[in-house]
Amino acid sequence: MKKSLIIGSNKGIGLEICRQLSAKGHHLLATCRKRSVELEQIENITIYDSVDVTHGDSLVNLASLIGNQTLDWLVVVAGIYKTVTINPPLDRNAMIKQFEVNALGPLQAVIELLPCLKPEGAKIGLLTSRMGSIADNTSGGNYGYRMSKVALNMAGKSLAHNLLSKKIALVLLHPGWVRTEMTKGNGNISAAESAKGLIERMEELTLEKSGSFFHQNGEELPW
Ligand SMILES: NC(=O)c1ccc[n+]([C@@H]2O[C@H](COP(=O)([O-])OP(=O)(O)OC[C@H]3O[C@@H](n4cnc5c(N)ncnc54)[C@H](OP(=O)(O)O)[C@@H]3O)[C@@H](O)[C@H]2O)c1
Repeated sequence: MKKSLIIGSNKGIGLEICRQLSAKGHHLLATCRKRSVELEQIENITIYDSVDVTHGDSLVNLASLIGNQTLDWLVVVAGIYKTVTINPPLDRNAMIKQFEVNALGPLQAVIELLPCLKPEGAKIGLLTSRMGSIADNTSGGNYGYRMSKVALNMAGKSLAHNLLSKKIALVLLHPGWVRTEMTKGNGNISAAESAKGLIERMEELTLEKSGSFFHQNGEELPW
């Protein structure tokens, strides 16, 4: 039975990943800042509350609570979107907040939880966005979100190199345009459809593919 930890699981894509991994028989560990009824309804799940990726202490504490339970999968879903445009003044707080949650948070989560990962064969998935692709940027705007996800992509690529010697594979995952709270219910796929593809990408992940950037639909994305 695979043991998987999902960070950011109370709603949206993270919640759906938990539902589907539970149905597949994974032994699930899930974090949230505040648990939801929907998360509690999932079977065979251990929920860790008050885990905020911008609070380093909560990640250190999480690693010690997990202790020597060896994780097969770590999936960091937590993320935020805030609009930042070129209309002055620049909203520096919104920029910094997105860097903290979208880039520094997942990086620190991986670093703190590394001792909990299975030494050979563990897999890490980081939920990024194709809005963090420079090659794919055809419309501009969204400064904080785009820049924080580019930073996440770079962190993920470096981690993939550094974790190769431990035989841990890492993939950057774009979930598609998904109907969740983040998109105010807009999007062309459901969280369930997105989660299904994301789980398939995790299942297919090998050390040879580590450090790649994939759409949940299987398309490899340009940086
Ligand atoms: N939806 C899309 O179309 C889309 C497209 C591209 C990429 N993504 C990415 O996919 C991921 C999931 O997005 P979603 O659509 O499911 O969004 P969502 O419904 O807004 O869920 C976001 C999740 O992140 C958590 N989170 C936010 N700030 C956090 C923090 N400081 N510490 C810990 N957890 C935090 C939220 O918890 P709270 O409820 O406590 O805030 C929630 O569980 C994000 O990384 C997002 O950037 C989404």
